[in-house]
Amino acid sequence: MELKLQWFPGHMTKARRMMEANLKLVDVVVEMLDARIPRASSNPMLIKMIGNKPKVIALNKADMANKEETALWLENLKTKNFAAVQIDCAKGKGVKQLLTTIQKAAEPVTEKWLKRGVRNRPIRVMIVGIPNVGKSTLINRLVGRRTAMTQDKPGVTRGPQWITIAKGLELLDTPGVLWPKFENQEVGLFLALTGAVKEDVFDKSIAVEILIDKLQKEYPQVLSSKYGAVLEQEDDINTIYEKIAQARGCLKAGGKADIDKVMNMVLRDFKTGKLGAFTLDKAPEKK
Ligand code: G4P
Repeated sequence: MELKLQWFPGHMTKARRMMEANLKLVDVVVEMLDARIPRASSNPMLIKMIGNKPKVIALNKADMANKEETALWLENLKTKNFAAVQIDCAKGKGVKQLLTTIQKAAEPVTEKWLKRGVRNRPIRVMIVGIPNVGKSTLINRLVGRRTAMTQDKPGVTRGPQWITIAKGLELLDTPGVLWPKFENQEVGLFLALTGAVKEDVFDKSIAVEILIDKLQKEYPQVLSSKYGAVLEQEDDINTIYEKIAQARGCLKAGGKADIDKVMNMVLRDFKTGKLGAFTLDKAPEKK
């Protein structure tokens, strides 16, 4: 499949420059990943940009991901010495734990300052992540109503705004936007299925076919029980479409299966979470 990529080098350069300028100002970086695609939603350039500043990983949209897989991901990240938490910032779950984790990650910085006689200096934090991962939602959660204070005034050049979010913690009100990396077709597809890139970057029929194949292999029964169709493991994609169309009455005049309608339904149900909570990027196997 040919992916029509919408992220041009110009965007990347601009995003990267802004990010690098802001990163200089912060002590701790929160990298937001989508808990459904922790691998596909990460950007390998970030580590080069932040150097040895402490980083906390927040697996967001945990409500839409498979619970066991999220637990495995957290375990895996911990064995690699990453500070990581799961959050659902739409509902505010895990946000307190995130703050505690940031405070803990900042301890070496505060200790270094203390040795130099610097006391009571707030730790400055920045949130980074790919589009649509939930950066603004998290910032609003952390900042609450105080966002109103940071509105632009016409004619006034606005410098970075810092908002106190907990004792000794200040947050940069603008998140860093990371460009998604399209390593291969699967990564591009996962990004599109979870809303990180526009849907029109992929060929719908291929995307739904890969999604259905993955669900049938890794989460069998889900499609059968959602659509009331008796699907067998050995069914090919056309048989699956046909069965779902019959079960759900997605039929054209004359009773023929309306495949396009089935594809749109599966895609929509997946994206809105109606099919259930799934992790597309499986956690690495335990060693
Ligand atoms: P961004 O700044 O990183 O680009 O993301 P933003 O906060 O705008 O969030 C993107 C969408 O994801 C929003 O939906 C937001 O409500 C949703 N979202 C953020 N965090 C969570 C979470 O923990 N769980 C769930 N289920 N959803 C979350 P939206 O405004 O409806 O946008 P869209 O769905 O139309 O893209």
